[in-house]
Amino acid sequence: MVYEERMRIILFGPPGVGKGTQANLLAEKFHIPQISTGDILREAVHKRTPLGLKAKSYMDQGALVPDQVIIEIIRETLASEKCADGFILDGFPRTVGQAEALDAILRDLHIKLDVVIDLAADENEIVRRLSNRLTCRQCGAVYNLATNTLPQDNKCPKCGGELYQRDDDKPEVVRNRLRVYHETTAPVRTYYAQQGILRSVDGMGTIADVQQRILNSLPGNRG
Ligand code: AP5
Repeated sequence: MVYEERMRIILFGPPGVGKGTQANLLAEKFHIPQISTGDILREAVHKRTPLGLKAKSYMDQGALVPDQVIIEIIRETLASEKCADGFILDGFPRTVGQAEALDAILRDLHIKLDVVIDLAADENEIVRRLSNRLTCRQCGAVYNLATNTLPQDNKCPKCGGELYQRDDDKPEVVRNRLRVYHETTAPVRTYYAQQGILRSVDGMGTIADVQQRILNSLPGNRG
């Protein structure tokens, strides 16, 4: 299979559908950075930076952090050297305002998005994935109690860091995150469908199955 160089990809979809998991695999495959606004915010919360202090109350409730805050993070990140050869956006944009701001940033940088992958899965499966998710406090690796065999000592198999359940994976917060997704984030799909770069991908099945579907839907796939 032949893929275009300098891929610029958005992974889009509801909480828990597998965006982070798939973004990580694509990042390894194409040697481009995974830019996860959720990871950036969680690190800021953990380090108690001004950004983290501002973001925490929104995240704890499963609400969106204000656009202005997120857009500034993305502006700085995309302009940095590490994104020069492409990137995968995971969890951004989540509002039409963020999508419009991203277009303006990309225009300024004279670059174009290649594709927006819209992952979908049943809501029951999403709740199951989130309630079984464990995240490493140190390296951010993500596991699932339903599919991974994890050591008894609750340490990350990759780095030995502590595995924990995210506060926003509690059932009542998950419900709010799904509501926010349907009300505020889902309309972003129409925005990219109108630009002709949205590709819908079934997020059900194994991680490997989903990865293959994503690879098949990337532009430049002539296989
Ligand atoms: P964020 O961290 O982005 O959360 P999210 O979008 O809700 O997505 P998740 O990280 O929960 O899930 P995912 O789709 O990445 O799934 P994963 O691969 O982990 O955001 C958190 C918060 O930050 C937001 O609520 C908001 O407050 C704030 N925020 C972030 N970005 C923002 C923005 N742009 N604007 C405003 N606010 C923002 O998979 C889930 C589990 O399923 C894992 O255990 C995984 O191992 C497992 N799994 C994955 N794929 C499969 C599969 N195929 N089969 C079985 N299990 C699977």
